[in-house]
Amino acid sequence: MKQSLFVTFDLPTEVRRILEASFNVSYAPSGFRLQPGVAFDLVQGHLLLLVSATQDRLDAALIAGLPDTIRAIATYSVGHDHIDLQSARARGIAVFSTPDVLSTACAEVGMLLLLGAARRVTESVDLLRSGNWNGWTPTQLNGTSLSGKVLGIFGMGRIGREIAKRARGFDMNIHYTNRLRLPPDQEQGATYHGSPESLLAVSQFLILACPATPETTGFLNARTIGMLPKGAIVANIGRGAVVVDEDLVSALASGRIAAAGLDVFNNEPNIFPGYSTLPNVFMLPHIGSSTLEARQAMGAIVVHGLTAFGMGQPTPNRIA
Ligand code: DGY
Repeated sequence: MKQSLFVTFDLPTEVRRILEASFNVSYAPSGFRLQPGVAFDLVQGHLLLLVSATQDRLDAALIAGLPDTIRAIATYSVGHDHIDLQSARARGIAVFSTPDVLSTACAEVGMLLLLGAARRVTESVDLLRSGNWNGWTPTQLNGTSLSGKVLGIFGMGRIGREIAKRARGFDMNIHYTNRLRLPPDQEQGATYHGSPESLLAVSQFLILACPATPETTGFLNARTIGMLPKGAIVANIGRGAVVVDEDLVSALASGRIAAAGLDVFNNEPNIFPGYSTLPNVFMLPHIGSSTLEARQAMGAIVVHGLTAFGMGQPTPNRIA
């Protein structure tokens, strides 16, 4: 007998098929918001709940009120800052995420952010679309090469390491900081910095590849921007909360930071208005993991985690 799974958001057909092969799946109607009342009535009776990082916020109050049939929650994301894990544990609800399987997709977008910012893609596209391009000249849209530059990676988890792998192919020198120094086989010759300050001082390019935690929230602010080399280029593939928007916008406007590539934002989808008018910002709408390959692999790892849970077996994608 298949276990019943309630999904709070829309999914590609291919992923629906993966879930439906293992569970009795119900999907939320459009406009659904996970909250007490009618929404909880829909969830009532299901054993498993699949939520999204961007549309659902499972704080202590929401978890406390979840229908008592729910035994496990999976988030269709690697990030889990939207779930109060402690409250889930306290209610005896297991929690699962989708690590690893989207690192390649996110690292590809990480490189896209670095390239898009460094090679002035926003201005280039705007120029072509405006119809005002007068043809090639040696003075038009000269950007910055990645080759030979120091790339500082803030957060050398799975995504950070995949970015490092690709950036080496662009002849970048990899430096990083992380909660713990990596073993040599994962470090692959990258230079470790025991403090963020020391990393910032050398980072001609800086990419934020960390989750949002109390320690990383607001990390890139006026003070830390001031520690970067003048004209550094920054990118964010982690979470918007790691950046203080006012400070980054003012550094971009003054040229203290030459350019930024951003895939994640505070308060998505209502992004800080200052970004939209700056020509030196290359922005994407949180598409880091948006490949069909990653989506399907995320579906498969959700199935793996919840199935193992049903059989009482351990699984590495259980986070609470
Ligand atoms: C993730 O998996 O955390 C992505 O950012 C989607 O939320």
